[in-house]
Amino acid sequence: MSYNFPVTRTTHPKEKPDQKALGFGRYFTDHMFMMDYDEGQGWHDGRIIPHEPITIEPASCVLHYAQMMFEGMKAYKTPDGKVQLFRPDMNAARLNRTNDRMCIPHLDQEIFFAAIRQLIEVDSDWIPSEPGTALYIRPFIFGDEVSFSVLPAKHYRFIVILCPVGSYYAANDGGLSATRIYVEDEYIRAAVGGTGFAKCGGNYAGGMAASAKAMTKDCKDVLWLDAVEHKYVEEIGTSNAFFMIGDEVITAPLMGTILPGITRDSVIQLLKKWGVKISERRLTIDEVVEASKNGTLKEVFASGTAAVISPIGCLYYMGEDHQVADGKVGPVAQKLYDTLYGIQTGSIKDDMGWTVQL
Ligand SMILES: Cc1ncc(COP(=O)(O)O)c(C=O)c1O
Repeated sequence: MSYNFPVTRTTHPKEKPDQKALGFGRYFTDHMFMMDYDEGQGWHDGRIIPHEPITIEPASCVLHYAQMMFEGMKAYKTPDGKVQLFRPDMNAARLNRTNDRMCIPHLDQEIFFAAIRQLIEVDSDWIPSEPGTALYIRPFIFGDEVSFSVLPAKHYRFIVILCPVGSYYAANDGGLSATRIYVEDEYIRAAVGGTGFAKCGGNYAGGMAASAKAMTKDCKDVLWLDAVEHKYVEEIGTSNAFFMIGDEVITAPLMGTILPGITRDSVIQLLKKWGVKISERRLTIDEVVEASKNGTLKEVFASGTAAVISPIGCLYYMGEDHQVADGKVGPVAQKLYDTLYGIQTGSIKDDMGWTVQL
C-alpha cells in the first residue's frame, strides 16, 4: 500500500539557523508528522502539519506511567545533492521490538517509511550540508488515553519531528575529539528482563541522576556497569561502548540490557571486514583499569547515531582518572568515523548496501 498523507503547510516559515552552530535538538523544522491510533480502528489519520506545541490532557497515561517509545536516525545530503538515510530498516524493526516491550501496537513499516519520506520532502530545505551536520529524525509514540489504570493505553499518537544538527561531541573545527567518561558505580541502568534493549524514555529518566554526577566531574557521559555485580561494562548514556585491549576490540553482548545500536552493528561488520579481531563478550571494568595501567588499553570509543564514533580519552572510575593510551583520538576510532560518516554522507561508495536514497 502506498501512502500519501495530507499536508497543511505553515504560514510562518522559520528562519534557518547558522549551520556552524546547530547544536543537537536546538532547532526544529517547520513541519511534523502526526498519526493517531484507536483500539478497534488501528493507526489512522496520518498528516503533516506545522511543527507547533500540541495539547495533551493532564490525565493522559504517558504523563504518569511513561508508556512511550522513540527512535533516532539521520538524513544526509550527498555531494550530488541527493538525500539518503542510513539503515532505516533497522530503525523500523527496532521500533516494533520496543513497541512489543512497551505494549504499544505495531506500526506498519510502510507507514514509518512513508511518514519520514514525505516529511523530509516537505522540509528538504532544512537539511544542512556543512561537514559534521545532518537532519536528525525523531519518531516517537506515546499513549494518551485519559486513564490512571496501570494498563496499556487504548489511544496513541505517533509523531515525527526533524531537527538540523551538528556533531554531538565534536571539537570546534567539526573534527573528532576525545571525551572524558564517568564510570557509574552506584546507580544502574537496566537489568536482564527489564527494558534496557528498548528505546523508551524511562531508561533515560532513570539515568539522569548519574549524568548529573558525571557533569560535576567534568565528564561528558556515563559508562554503565551491569546491574547485578556492578562489574561488567555495558554501554554509555546514548551510545554503545567499544574497548581495544591489545589487538582485540571488545563490546558488550546483547543480553537484553543494552540498546542494540545500529552503529554498533555497523562497527562490528566493518571491523570484521577489515580483519580486526572483534568480540561481543563480557568485560570487567577491572580488566579495563588494568589494561590502562599496563599500557594495553589502546582505544575506547562510543558508537551511536548522534555522535557516529566518539573517542574516549579518559575513564573516571571510583575517584580516579584512567587514561586511554595517550588520551587522544585513536586510529581505529578515526578510521571507523571516516568510513561510517563517509558512507552516510555519500562521499564514500557504500559497498555494504546500507544507504537508502529518498
Ligand atoms: C542507550 C543507547 N545506546 C546505544 C545507542 C546507539 O544506538 P544507534 O547506533 O542505533 O544510534 C543509543 C542511541 O540511540 C542509545 O540511546
